[in-house]
Amino acid sequence: MRVLVACEFSGKVRDAFTARGHYALSCDLLPSERPGEHILGDVRDILSDGWDMMIAHPPCTYLTNSGVSWLYKDESRWNKLDSAASFFLELWNAPIKKICIENPIMHKHGRERIGNLQYTQIIQPWMFGHPESKATCLWLKNLPALHPTNNVKDEMEALPENQRHQMHFLPPSETRWMERSRTYPGIAEAMADQWGNE
Ligand SMILES: C[S@@+](CC[C@H](N)C(=O)[O-])C[C@H]1O[C@@H](n2cnc3c(N)ncnc32)[C@H](O)[C@@H]1O
Repeated sequence: MRVLVACEFSGKVRDAFTARGHYALSCDLLPSERPGEHILGDVRDILSDGWDMMIAHPPCTYLTNSGVSWLYKDESRWNKLDSAASFFLELWNAPIKKICIENPIMHKHGRERIGNLQYTQIIQPWMFGHPESKATCLWLKNLPALHPTNNVKDEMEALPENQRHQMHFLPPSETRWMERSRTYPGIAEAMADQWGNE
């Protein structure tokens, strides 16, 4: 299969598909952190290049429920919200048969702007071997829901709050958003295992 991994700098999903014999390419405005097939640029320019599947991780800063209060503190965020929602829809409407878009739970303004498109499922890192909590929605087109591969919820619940939500507790830094946004390897492996033969 030809698999486009949109908005990925970590190479996690790309490399999981590549390891299973697919042609997978990541595309991001940032360089890839790891060597591999990568286009540095705007993914909108390559959506029509004949892909069988796209897995997309578009920016969530202006769409996520956890950031909703900022809309009322910073007027400029409403335009950015509009752009983020139209980017999401451009990916969803790309001429690619199988599509997965991953994003956190959206606030109502985000949901309205993507036409109240309902996500297919919510996944958690603890369903895929990582004892951490971070609800992530998957919007799926022509793909089955992802099955949990290694449920470590009990292990996660036994951990102190700052470890099970460790991404929230990272100290401020220029790269904090990158640490928080890298796809968990267990989720990348599950996508490649379960969707690689679809
Ligand atoms: C939330 S991060 C996703 C990171 C991803 N989960 C990973 O493991 O690398 C969103 C990414 O979208 C990228 N991005 C934003 N607009 C883009 C565009 N038009 N084309 C390609 N990438 C874009 C950003 O540079 C950022 O790295």
